Amino acid sequence: MSLDDLYRRVIMDHYQRPRNRGRLEENAVTIEMNNPTCGDRISLQLRVEDGKITDAKFFGEGCSISQASASMMTEAVKGLSIEEALRVSGLFSAMMRGEAVDMDQFPLEDIEALQGVAKFPARIKCATLAWKALEKGVKQPQ
Ligand code: FES
Repeated sequence: MSLDDLYRRVIMDHYQRPRNRGRLEENAVTIEMNNPTCGDRISLQLRVEDGKITDAKFFGEGCSISQASASMMTEAVKGLSIEEALRVSGLFSAMMRGEAVDMDQFPLEDIEALQGVAKFPARIKCATLAWKALEKGVKQPQ
């Protein structure tokens, strides 16, 4: 299997079996974010306690890239401090700009599967949608 096939498989797995899809009933900030080029949207909920993201869930509609990225992001940031989550998000943005990043810095290995998106400018907004919601969410008072 080629690396591209492997990455495609990882993305489809997150799309078809999204992690953390759903709603947090209490003590959560909700961030709505949409991709203006296609109208797809995600609603992200974060629970932040003592400067740490203790839970994250999302729902919404979108393409496989946007939904897989949201699944990976929520999985990656749970348990991280706000500073760590922003650092990881910055790393993801750098990867989307096509910069060389140290993949070991991602708390979730699967995120690496999205690196190929950087070659398709029209899809970058799909991949960054959930991460933009994260950045907005951690800056919002709960
Ligand atoms: Fe809409 Fe990807 S095509 S988020």
